[in-house]
Amino acid sequence: MRVMTKKVGVFSLIALSIASFVLQFRSASDISKDEALLHKESSDFVPWNRHALRTEQGSPTVTGKCAINMYGLPRAFQSLVLPSLIKNVIQPNAIYSCDYFVHYYNLTEETAGRSGGGGRINPDEILLLKQAVQDVSPQSIVEFHHDTEAAFWDRYQPLLDKIRTTKATDGHYLYFPWRAKTYKHPITTDNIIKMWHSIQSAWNLMMEHETLTSQPYTRVAMLRSDVVYMTPINVFEISRRKVLDNEKAALVPAFGRHPVSDRIIVGPRDAVKVWATERFDRLETHVTFVQEHNPGWGMHSEKFLNWTIFPAIRETGTSIVEDDYLCFFRARADETVWIKDCEGKHEGIAAHSILKNLGGNKKHVLESVLGRKCLDGVQRLTHSFAAVHCPMQMPL
Ligand SMILES: *[C@@H]1O[C@H](CO)[C@@H](O)[C@H](O)[C@H]1NC(C)=O
Ligand SMILES: *[C@@H]1O[C@H](CO)[C@@H](O)[C@H](O)[C@H]1NC(C)=O
Repeated sequence: MRVMTKKVGVFSLIALSIASFVLQFRSASDISKDEALLHKESSDFVPWNRHALRTEQGSPTVTGKCAINMYGLPRAFQSLVLPSLIKNVIQPNAIYSCDYFVHYYNLTEETAGRSGGGGRINPDEILLLKQAVQDVSPQSIVEFHHDTEAAFWDRYQPLLDKIRTTKATDGHYLYFPWRAKTYKHPITTDNIIKMWHSIQSAWNLMMEHETLTSQPYTRVAMLRSDVVYMTPINVFEISRRKVLDNEKAALVPAFGRHPVSDRIIVGPRDAVKVWATERFDRLETHVTFVQEHNPGWGMHSEKFLNWTIFPAIRETGTSIVEDDYLCFFRARADETVWIKDCEGKHEGIAAHSILKNLGGNKKHVLESVLGRKCLDGVQRLTHSFAAVHCPMQMPL
């Protein structure tokens, strides 16, 4: 079972059909960059004494309780994900004592497929997160919730059957995005539902805790459990500057833009709530809208975010800002790392600033995050796809 559904080298295949959207999208993202620049000027270039004045009247930057929620299938968690979480998530946020809420699938085997070579998964590894967090952030709470594959199917079989079979009046699938060349029927949409369920379950776990303590979180991150975090994520910062108190802004990656990234979000609680909990509710309206305006895209993951979820987030008064630095690589169960994840054939897919800001040789940065060497050689899978193998135990 794969929870995630990233597509490989797809973009060229569908580039023609969405080229015009990309243009529009780029201008939208340019606007958000201008906004970011404006804010940058108003924060970074304020003389320090004015800063001090503002501090007397109340904090100039957002503060409060934070939650870091993790979802998905924990592939190579101990080997690849955990070292990067410690360095780039747990340590940078230790000063805030964020709480952690994790949903995962208790699954021991992943078959090879579009998400890499597959391999064994040891779900117990994710439990190591608790000690790792409490080593540097003793006040933090770390809670887990899991589902088995069987429990997932018990709950979602009717919905999955509907998604797999429903056709529109034109004879094509209504939900399944048949125009997306890399989507395989029915596995890709099954996996999207698995991802949605995991995201929502992590959120629900967080909410139960809020109810218990009567203390809502002000800032929430939703992070994948199967990536190597290459750059620090500070939940109160976007593009390395603090979010201001009067600014409602959420961070998303500036890579994997198909046309927007669906991989993580960090933002104000009510904005992230839309991202985490409103997908099932908004699905019907979305596919109806798509059928009318762009038939063939059904419940395509990133387009669903761009057309339905992001607009709903903006309605909460939050602007969505792509981070200039953020980079993470997907990790696979066979301990390979997809080192081209933060780049793309063109700016439409990934902002060039990311690689520039990462600096140095990607493999060297990766090795410094993991604290060990990876094997020599890069496995080139396709044009936009390359992997390096970083086993914990070096082969003899
Ligand atoms: C993304 O959504 C915006 C509207 O929210 C739209 O203008 C743009 O064309 C969309 N991009 C793509 C590639 O669909
Ligand atoms: C996964 O399920 C097995 C078998 O039911 C159980 O022994 C194990 O503790 C579970 N692991 C996790 C991390 O939930």
